Amino acid sequence: MSWTFAAWSQQNQQKVEEALSAWVPAGAPAGLGGAMRYAVLDGGKRLRPLLALAAAEAVQPAGADLPASTLRAACAVELIHAYSLVHDDMPCMDDDVLRRGKPTVHVQYGQAQALLAGDALQALAFDVLVGPANEDTTPHTTVELCRQLARAAGYAGMAGGQAIDLAGVGVRLTQTQLEEMHRLKTGALLLGSVTMGASSVNATTPQLQALTRYGQALGLAFQVVDDVLDVTADAVTLGKTPGKDAAADKPTFVSLLGLEAAQAYADQLLDEALSALDQTFFTRTDALRAIALWVVRRNH
Ligand code: IPE
Ligand code: IPE
Ligand code: MG
Ligand code: MG
Ligand code: MG
Repeated sequence: MSWTFAAWSQQNQQKVEEALSAWVPAGAPAGLGGAMRYAVLDGGKRLRPLLALAAAEAVQPAGADLPASTLRAACAVELIHAYSLVHDDMPCMDDDVLRRGKPTVHVQYGQAQALLAGDALQALAFDVLVGPANEDTTPHTTVELCRQLARAAGYAGMAGGQAIDLAGVGVRLTQTQLEEMHRLKTGALLLGSVTMGASSVNATTPQLQALTRYGQALGLAFQVVDDVLDVTADAVTLGKTPGKDAAADKPTFVSLLGLEAAQAYADQLLDEALSALDQTFFTRTDALRAIALWVVRRNH
């Protein structure tokens, strides 16, 4: 049977779902496990894990099985992402009540538990990433993956971008400033998904360079589309409350460029992402290409 993205993504989403369910503990003390599982399981597009798996496939020799560390990297990034959503939704940040079609974690469990669930998910991400000793990864690769995840999540990545986002309320940013904010708050973790997936199967420097160009363009396209959907989508489709950016006076690509130009910009970034994959040194790029199209054409 010929390759389809629908079958590929369904199979890999299931693999990720099962791994996350096994790795996020139900038994953490005083209800913390329940809040952690609520934040991670049964929802979300799983874009970051799919990117990690697709990037590994682009590099791995045809037909070879992916090592356990690729799935670990894929799930570790999703755990960081889930933690970032829990904190992003809290009253001290975006004050959102709906996420992935459900009440947000602080609404369901209270603010203190939401804060702790986020903290614990961040720590768990590194625990999952490292895995048991002597699995199938060298210590060198494990350290490299930890470094990439720490940098994508920290002050020079997601957390730094979130700080710029909050400082930007009511401020008119230039396009360069807005791109810098998006590059950090969302782009860093998406780029990290791509490079970690590739690094888990020992990508070469030229492969990593091309994948970095892909991940940077895709990461920015993703947040441009997130900004567009905040204006164009409804709550049921989106699974979160639309219209929040304008209500909170957040700088976005729509507020800067207008709706049509923002959509056109996402298409331009899609072309950039796809052209970065035109290299003979990749094994197969079908999944990476399909993901880029999905990111830009998605409705939620
Ligand atoms: C939403 O990310 C938060 C941003 C980084 C803009 P996703 O759109 O990937 O959210 P889920 O994981 O599918 O819920
Ligand atoms: C959040 O960006 C990015 C994160 C690091 C979580 P947004 O605030 O735009 O994400 P949504 O729209 O609430 O999902
Ligand atoms: Mg936010
Ligand atoms: Mg938000
Ligand atoms: Mg948003």
